[in-house]
Amino acid sequence: MVNDKGGVGKTSLVANLAGQLAASGYRCLLIDLNRQANLADDLGYRDDQRDDQGTGLLMSVIAGAALEPVTDVRPGLDVVPGGARLADLVPLMVSRLQERDREAFRVLADILAPVAEPYDVVFIDCPPESPILTDLALTAARWVVMPTKSDAGGLVGMRLVGERFALARELNPDLGLLGSVLFATGSRSVQVHAEDRGAVANAFGGRSPLFAASIRHAERSAQDARRLGKLAHELEVEVAAQPAWWTALRDGTGTGGRLSTTAAGVAGDYRDVAVELLTLLRTVEEPAAKTRAEATR
Ligand SMILES: Nc1ncnc2c1ncn2[C@@H]1O[C@H](COP(=O)(O)OP(=O)(O)O)[C@@H](O)[C@H]1O
Ligand SMILES: [Mg+2]
Repeated sequence: MVNDKGGVGKTSLVANLAGQLAASGYRCLLIDLNRQANLADDLGYRDDQRDDQGTGLLMSVIAGAALEPVTDVRPGLDVVPGGARLADLVPLMVSRLQERDREAFRVLADILAPVAEPYDVVFIDCPPESPILTDLALTAARWVVMPTKSDAGGLVGMRLVGERFALARELNPDLGLLGSVLFATGSRSVQVHAEDRGAVANAFGGRSPLFAASIRHAERSAQDARRLGKLAHELEVEVAAQPAWWTALRDGTGTGGRLSTTAAGVAGDYRDVAVELLTLLRTVEEPAAKTRAEATR
């Protein structure tokens, strides 16, 4: 999940897509490359014993040793946490790049490979404004998904990703662009979406795969999610269980602290994106897997 711009939904998307896929039986791994580690808030492990602030990831890179994910942050969902310790990752990479040139970018792929096997999907949450960490992720990944907001800033981040993408393919020729997801869209206007499609096409040299599904703008439920460490589909369940506003009013329990009822719609949007993601992966990966199987027969 890449976009050089912050605030375009990378973290919200990886957390919710991995969360919903894990809840429906797919084994998922999430790797957090962010110093701020908003993922820890979204999944609710900030500052508890699982939150190593990126130490494990940094140590694996230093030693070239396999990653050791925190298991079952949700059933079926494992995480390699990010955090403040990742501040040391950039200078480390800079010195390695001086020694071994761009080959040094293979390190994430190398420490991920030994643990990746049991997972159906591995998500990497990329940081904004960090070409080095983005290159690290793009060298390890198979597919790029690029969230974007319908504003000029989001489009700038996109162009930068296009450049890093082209460079990363020299080391990782299998890297492909799966698509772009519109995030926090207020308008369902076809006109706006057509402009976004054009911008994606410009950034990636002609192809413009824009997901049909998008995530609606819903600020209050996003705040509930991050404050409570719950994913949209988990809030959806709690919203359904909360007493009607008029009961709360009648009983004098007040309406403060109530969860935003938009969570259900947002959870539905993430579900649609997750289904589209899996469908796309099936279409693009199954023929390749078949060819490989035939070649080894
Ligand atoms: N559906 C939504 N509508 C509006 N704002 C949202 C929505 N979902 C999340 N947000 C907010 O958008 C901000 C950026 O989201 P985030 O996923 O952290 O982006 P990034 O990882 O690209 O920086 C966060 O403050 C988050 O609470
Ligand atoms: Mg983020």
